[in-house]
Amino acid sequence: MYQVVMQDEPVAAAAVDETPLAGAGGRDAAFGRVVSDTVDLSHGVALYVEDVMVSFDGFRALNRLSLTIGRDELRCVIGPNGAGKTTMMDVITGKTRPDEGRVFFGQSHDLLRMSEPRIADLGIGRKFQKPTVFEAMSVFDNIELALKAEKSARASVRWRLGHAQRERIEEVLAQVRLAGHAATIAGTLSHGQKQWLEIGMLLAQDPVLLLLDEPVAGMTDEETMRTAELLLELEGKHAIVVVEHDMEFIAQIARTVTVLHEGSVLAEGRLDDVRADDRVIEVYLGR
Ligand SMILES: Nc1ncnc2c1ncn2[C@@H]1O[C@H](COP(=O)(O)OP(=O)(O)OP(=O)(O)O)[C@@H](O)[C@H]1O
Ligand SMILES: [Mg+2]
Repeated sequence: MYQVVMQDEPVAAAAVDETPLAGAGGRDAAFGRVVSDTVDLSHGVALYVEDVMVSFDGFRALNRLSLTIGRDELRCVIGPNGAGKTTMMDVITGKTRPDEGRVFFGQSHDLLRMSEPRIADLGIGRKFQKPTVFEAMSVFDNIELALKAEKSARASVRWRLGHAQRERIEEVLAQVRLAGHAATIAGTLSHGQKQWLEIGMLLAQDPVLLLLDEPVAGMTDEETMRTAELLLELEGKHAIVVVEHDMEFIAQIARTVTVLHEGSVLAEGRLDDVRADDRVIEVYLGR
């Protein structure tokens, strides 16, 4: 696992730095990587987006978009179709480059200067709407693959094989409500279970920031409710940004809600307040 500097653990990165290197250049390089991968959350901010502009052939998909996500936050983002919600995630993950603006991960990582894989490697996990699990593999193997991906990507010095790895996989499976399905072939899971498995694959990589784009679309009411419970359990362990249209689901998990409209923040605050906002009713909820 990579180092995350928090106010109460100021020595974490330094401790890695001072570890005597066993004379191996490869390990030296690995240690260097762990240190440089530190995400500085000491000011309580996981993500900082400022005045981001994205145009597609003259059409403004994002128009001076600014928002800040706290390191322990569970943030809901709502807004009409075409408001720019997915485009915002594309910018954060490096898929789309904005024309202007600033995007920082923690205090020091300028995401606009980084590649997509590098951003993922730093600890930003993204779930797209359509589940993308390895259908022919078991649930357990899917999570194991995600764990291995993390290991090679971050060249972790703390990685332990065997028992600890198995325990971690089982922990993740329990978290995402799939403890009884370790041996199940992923392709035979329900749509909702596949969504959970994909969330599990992201959790296996222990992201600092988790981006979920319409995670409950196509889920049954029961699955939706259990997903809300899951996200509430994850609150505080990762910074989480959830985009959804399902307002019942949003109501179950809402803390601060951001309403996007035409590429900008139209309103932000408690759900009750944004729901009562005339502009929000007009462009979104009142439809
Ligand atoms: N690659 C692209 N090329 C051209 N236009 C794009 C591209 N990606 C997004 N857009 C446009 O940008 C606007 C914002 O799209 P975006 O997908 O971010 O909206 P959204 O808020 O996620 O909507 P929805 O709720 O329907 O998912 C839309 O008008 C969309 O058509
Ligand atoms: Mg979208």
